[in-house]
Amino acid sequence: MATIDKTQQDAEKLAAALAAVKFVKDGDVVGLGTGSTTTFAIKELGKRVKEGLKIKAAASSIRTEELAKSLGIEILDLGFLSKIDISIDGADEFTESLDLIKGGGGALFREKIIASLSKNAIIITDASKKVKKLGAFTVPVEVIPLAYQYVFDQINELGGKGVLRSVDNKTFITDNGNLIIDADFGLIDDPEKLSTDLNQINGLLAHGLFINITSKVIMSEETDIIIFE
Ligand code: 5RP
Repeated sequence: MATIDKTQQDAEKLAAALAAVKFVKDGDVVGLGTGSTTTFAIKELGKRVKEGLKIKAAASSIRTEELAKSLGIEILDLGFLSKIDISIDGADEFTESLDLIKGGGGALFREKIIASLSKNAIIITDASKKVKKLGAFTVPVEVIPLAYQYVFDQINELGGKGVLRSVDNKTFITDNGNLIIDADFGLIDDPEKLSTDLNQINGLLAHGLFINITSKVIMSEETDIIIFE
């Protein structure tokens, strides 16, 4: 993972966000991710909407919905959409083959629904998120509370060391009322297989491995924009 300072990282996040927003057209239904990188894109979309861009959006979290609405972006009910034209979201790690780990912000379930519905699922990142192999960042797993111990033990069976996510000494609760287990599998040789194995655990709502759902990753590195697709 490249080491860069925060100002440089924010400049890269902004540049990637601006590059992604250029793909949004009048009339699009836009899926909005969650996180600091996506926030740059939502703010830019808000500006464009004020200048006359006509879009509707679906939000991957309550905080994204609140931000988008405050900027005048109309929000649709994700549960009733059968197609999203374009989505813009961040990632915690990605590889050149467009496999991702997401969910650092805990919004992975709705983010995965949005990516799955999207014709053009764009991920935006700074250069620090690019890795050769996924797994230095732990895999977030959203679990329905009454299945917590079962899912925790199943993750262990698969070779993962789980930790119940807490923030400020309080158990983290997702927008869907669930828990997050951050699962350390070490560097992951076969993310697709791990994704399939995790999907088979009853009570596991979603995990942060995003395999074969991303259309392109727009990465900003210093002054360059690099597109992986
Ligand atoms: C939230 C996510 C975010 O996209 C991911 O954590 C990256 O966040 P940031 O842009 O703040 O680095 O998956 O659930």
